[in-house]
Amino acid sequence: MTEKSPDDPTEGETKSETDRPTRRGRIAPDGGTEARTDTSTVEPVDDVPIADPDLSSTEIERVRAVLEDGMLADGPEVRAFEGEFAGFCRTQAAVATSNGTTALHAALEAFGVGEGDAVVTSPFSFVASANAIRLTGATPVFADIDLGTYTLDPTAVERVLAERDDIVGLLPVHLYGLPARMPALCDIAEEHDLFVLEDACQAHGATVDGKRVGGFGDAACFSFYPTKNMTTGEGGIVTTDREDVAESVRQYVNHGRAPGETGGYDHVALGHNYRMTSLAAAIGRVQLQRLLEFNEARREHAASYDDQFAELPLETPTVPEGYGHVYHQYTVRTEDPAERDALANTLADRNVDSAVYYDPPIHRQSAYETVSTAAASLPEAERAAETVLSVPVHPGLSERERRTVVEAVHDHFNL
Ligand SMILES: Cc1ncc(COP(=O)(O)O)c(C=O)c1O
Repeated sequence: MTEKSPDDPTEGETKSETDRPTRRGRIAPDGGTEARTDTSTVEPVDDVPIADPDLSSTEIERVRAVLEDGMLADGPEVRAFEGEFAGFCRTQAAVATSNGTTALHAALEAFGVGEGDAVVTSPFSFVASANAIRLTGATPVFADIDLGTYTLDPTAVERVLAERDDIVGLLPVHLYGLPARMPALCDIAEEHDLFVLEDACQAHGATVDGKRVGGFGDAACFSFYPTKNMTTGEGGIVTTDREDVAESVRQYVNHGRAPGETGGYDHVALGHNYRMTSLAAAIGRVQLQRLLEFNEARREHAASYDDQFAELPLETPTVPEGYGHVYHQYTVRTEDPAERDALANTLADRNVDSAVYYDPPIHRQSAYETVSTAAASLPEAERAAETVLSVPVHPGLSERERRTVVEAVHDHFNL
């Protein structure tokens, strides 16, 4: 490894205006990029975006180096990124993939999940968490969330387990950057002999009792989509302490070719091309060096919002004792659904982006009508879906932008 350890970012990188990318694209919630009309390099003070990926001249130099080297697809750059990311999560191994969804799918394939199996997951997540289960032929079974933390409620998981005998694993989601209740969920999994796959796509660097997510379950998956706490453009990774899982994932993402096999075309299993490119890995290696700094900035914004919103009729994020939140999103909740929509409109009038992650919840989405567990009664997830609203918390938020967000929220309630 030629990089500094991501655990020791030392001085980090300070962001200057010249370091910034030229105009950013507006990132649509969990997919696609809308071109912004403003192409100047000057930060508009009255338009506060919900996400703003921060790519410095270092990422650009590293990508240029890969382009000049000419090894664009899988290669040593990807291996180096995997080693560094595993080091960050303190896991034995990491296997890079083309995105977070393929990471989840490849990990589930590595556990041997397939038709006839069921996996318990959260109905209150991006659809990819459940889609990955369906892609294997298995059935996603939804357990309700705890409305305070928006993550799987262990008692709801126990209830589901009492009703079914086809459940082979748990797929908890660390939503908005807050880890799910991993100690309780891991105990349940052990008792029922289930695998645990963490969906850590939104939680790079989040902790429980000082331990980083990525190493709680049998495996964990991260996304490096541009809105995430660190990015590679598109990208994902599976972390694990299990050598058998790492080997199977490595094989699956490379068309079923036996790991270590460099020549020949005798593929030993069915697989896919879910590989990460060296260009993506080059970006990821630099972003990983900056991750702790990014997360610190997110925490600082969140602490300020907690303070400024304390007297308003809003639920601010709950962080259980011992949990380290990394605020992929800063999400408030109103009592009344109509109030949530009115608040979003006030913010839009003030050029402050906000977003609803996620409405409808997965089990109510059209693509889930045919899934047998779509009719489940999940009142907490449904309540969350109609009352949550996320406001900008990305590291690039200036003090002035943060003030604009706070003033807009206050004005809404003072009208
Ligand atoms: C909770 C969650 N799971 C899975 C994914 C899928 O990741 P990707 O978009 O990289 O495929 C995402 C990303 O949007 C996510 O937020």
